[in-house]
Amino acid sequence: MDDFVVGIDVGTTKICTLVARVEPDDSLRIMGVGVEPAEGIRKGVIVDLTAASQSIGRSIAQAEQTSGVKIETALVSLAGAHVASINSRGVVAVAGHTVEDSDIERAMDSARSVAIPNSREVIHVIQRGFSLDGQDGIHQPIGMHGYRLEVEAHVITAATATAENLRQAVGAAGVRVAQFVLKPLASAEVVLTDTERNMGAIVCDIGGGTTDLAIYVNGDVWHTMVLAVGGNNITQDIAHGLRLPLSQAEEVKKLHGHSVQAEIGMDEAFNILPFGAETPMRMSRRDLSLIIEARVEEMFELALQEIKRSGYDGLLPAGMILTGGTSLLPGIRQSASKVLGMPVRTAQPDKLLGLADKLNSPAYATGVGLLTWAAALQSLPISYRDGPQKRRSVQKGDGENWNTVKNLIKRLLP
Ligand SMILES: Nc1ncnc2c1ncn2[C@@H]1O[C@H](COP(=O)(O)OP(=O)(O)OP(=O)(O)O)[C@@H](O)[C@H]1O
Ligand SMILES: [Mg+2]
Repeated sequence: MDDFVVGIDVGTTKICTLVARVEPDDSLRIMGVGVEPAEGIRKGVIVDLTAASQSIGRSIAQAEQTSGVKIETALVSLAGAHVASINSRGVVAVAGHTVEDSDIERAMDSARSVAIPNSREVIHVIQRGFSLDGQDGIHQPIGMHGYRLEVEAHVITAATATAENLRQAVGAAGVRVAQFVLKPLASAEVVLTDTERNMGAIVCDIGGGTTDLAIYVNGDVWHTMVLAVGGNNITQDIAHGLRLPLSQAEEVKKLHGHSVQAEIGMDEAFNILPFGAETPMRMSRRDLSLIIEARVEEMFELALQEIKRSGYDGLLPAGMILTGGTSLLPGIRQSASKVLGMPVRTAQPDKLLGLADKLNSPAYATGVGLLTWAAALQSLPISYRDGPQKRRSVQKGDGENWNTVKNLIKRLLP
């Protein structure tokens, strides 16, 4: 089991369990895949524990069968409207004359100790810049002289009860949650290039039930948001507008959907069988795209509001990287670009070995991102892998290794 990494993406439409082996060149060889329709999950959150546990269990069993690996622990994705994030500052007096690791650790502890109610748990604390004696914009303060060290941190929290339900549902299949990873952060590991990360960009994973956003500036996560809208809303609008059962609306969306009406010819049409009709009727594809266009633009307007509220709207020259199943909708890139006024590209997992064919879709960005995250964690000293509670027992290694480790820790640990 130790040579393998496992990720379970608990989505609103599908549960995806992936088992991979990390090759010597750090590429991932996919050994097992278990994709099952999700049940008992709405807008990223468990609403029926039994149904959710069963579908998670089936997905895990399938991944175990294909890989021949008994899964004991896994990284599990988390999202939903209960996720909140706040920016926090940790301030400490520098103990010696120069900043040392222990000062940074104390500053992070101080940032982490923001007042968080008992009903919430911390999922990630991401450090993203320091200031020393009031001088902002310091990336790496170690060894610098100063008296007062401040760290700027992004603290992501989740409702304890909701996270606990997910832990229990995964636990029912005999698998321990090693760590929750916020969905957009996992997706970003797969779709974001280093250049985009450094220049400033926003990752947007639109699934069935949620739209997960993460803003990167200067190489670090600056803001995260989870919106409770997704592709299911588009399907519902089509079902209402054309009076179709949801399953037919979903099919119509995937076969004929487009989010830019102006791109569709006047005479393009397809057949549907609405409620109450005895024979199929012709439906204009332009009319369908009008329904979709309205919803898709509204979704990006919502995203834009959130981006503006975060204060980083002017800092994203690399634009938006769209992923998630809904990014397969024709026209969506244009719609996003029109509403947001920034460059937009779509992305999906690539450079995978083994059983990877099925995973070459943006719907699997989060699942594969969990594997990338797990692989990076596995390269850390063993005592780092389980989260912050064990951090203090770690001894510093030799210089160069330790720096790599610290960079990883900065990105990965809660
Ligand atoms: N070709 C397509 N055109 C339009 N929409 C599509 C297409 N293929 C998939 N979708 C939509 O993608 C959505 C599923 O995406 P995904 O698998 O990323 O969701 P999820 O991870 O299960 O859910 P979430 O992350 O929101 O909890 C569904 O709403 C589906 O209708
Ligand atoms: Mg998803």
